[in-house]
Formats: sequence, structure tokens, C-alpha cells
Amino acid sequence: MSTREIIISHLDVTAAKKAAAKAALDFLSSNMNIGVGSGTTVRYLISYLNKSALRNLKIVPTSLDTKIHLQNSLAKSSHQIIDLPQFDLDITIDGADSVNPEKQAIKGGGGALTREKLVRNSSIQFILIVDESKVVPALGNFPVAVEILPFGWRRTIELLKKFGAVSLRQGTKKLGPVISDNFGYIVDIKLFSSDLSPNEIHNLELQINEIPGVIENGIFGNPADRVIVGKFSGEITGY
Ligand code: A5P
Repeated sequence: MSTREIIISHLDVTAAKKAAAKAALDFLSSNMNIGVGSGTTVRYLISYLNKSALRNLKIVPTSLDTKIHLQNSLAKSSHQIIDLPQFDLDITIDGADSVNPEKQAIKGGGGALTREKLVRNSSIQFILIVDESKVVPALGNFPVAVEILPFGWRRTIELLKKFGAVSLRQGTKKLGPVISDNFGYIVDIKLFSSDLSPNEIHNLELQINEIPGVIENGIFGNPADRVIVGKFSGEITGY
């Protein structure tokens, strides 16, 4: 691929992510309690939130990264950043690494999967915002991120090998393993099968969580309510 092609394709992905993020605003109204996911697409959502006419949102961030972006972007707004409350949130909007036609997803590329799933499971509605490259006929190709306890991590990895090839996610600059917001380690499982049915993906989510030492995994087998897909042309579609 030439440098020009790489630049163009980066611009296309950016346009697609921005389009999906902007379209998500249509699902929000002032005074809602909302969850905001993590990742680059969500960062565009945060900047659109800042420019929108929406007022008095109570916002639960799914990661420290998102919290910092919200604090920087919404400092002078009427919105409020809150911890996950005891009551249901109206809606959560999040990105994904891979999503199938049944609206199940693999997430956790950014390592925020545990809080993302907690917030998702606390929300009445869950909407995914993705660029078109994320939509696949079947899940399994994108590695499944799993957050594990640092205690006994070698043993936990050994037990996870029945699902695929497992690697401990390493930080940059050889500083050691990535430490999550919850002080866990993140491992990635390259699954043996890359073509899982909706039922198989749901069962796999449950099976991985049964392994001692596992905190949570990045399979979102409970389907989203809607997937907003940004196309490289800047148009949007959805299902
Ligand atoms: C974070 O842990 C992930 O689940 C992200 O939601 C996912 O990786 C999507 O990221 P982008 O919006 O950066 O593609």
C-alpha cells in the first residue's frame, strides 16, 4: 500500500467513526442518565456531546481514559460525570472491535471490557457505534480480551488455553504487562474457531468466565439494541 493510500484509508475510517458517533446523538435527550464507552469512536461522541444542545446529562464513563476526555471536554457544560449508580441508566453508547448481524460484539481492544460490560448491563438500551470495517458475518476472528487477576496469572493463562492461543498483553516500552483500570492483567485469546454462531459465542462468553482467576471477558453475547455503522463515504447505516 502506498503512503497516499494509507493516508486516504485513515481519513475514511475517521470519517466513518465520526459519522456513527454523530448519529448516536439522536438517541439522547437532555436529563438522561447515560453510559459512555471507551475508544476512539467514543471520543468523537464526546466532542459532539460538547457541541450539542443536550443539557444536564448524568454520564457514567466506562474507563479512566473516557473520564479524562469527558472532564476535559465537558468542564464548562451542564453535564455531570457520575459513578455507576444503583439504578438503571437510560442508555449506553459504546464502540466495538467486531460486531455480527445479530448485534453481538467482541470488545476490549482498549482493555476497558470489565467496566464496559458492567455499564452495559446496567443500561436499559445499548447502542454500538462502529465504522463499517467492524461488521462481520460471524464473530471469532478478533481476539477475545480477558481481564484476569494478577495473582496466579500463569495458571489462569494455562486454563484459558483450551479456548485458543493466549497471550498476556504487554505495555509499550517493555514496561511489563498492561495494568487495567481495575489493576488486573489483560490477556488476548486468538480463538481456535473464527466463525462462531450466535449461540456458540454466547456459550463461550459464559465458559471463559467460569475459569478461576477470570474477572470478565470481552464477548458481549447479549445483543445490542442497535448498531450504528459509519461508512467510509461518511454516510451512516444501521440495524
Ligand atoms: C475498549 O475496550 C473497546 O471495547 C473499544 O470499545 C473498542 O476497541 C472500539 O474502539 P475504537 O472505537 O477505537 O475502534
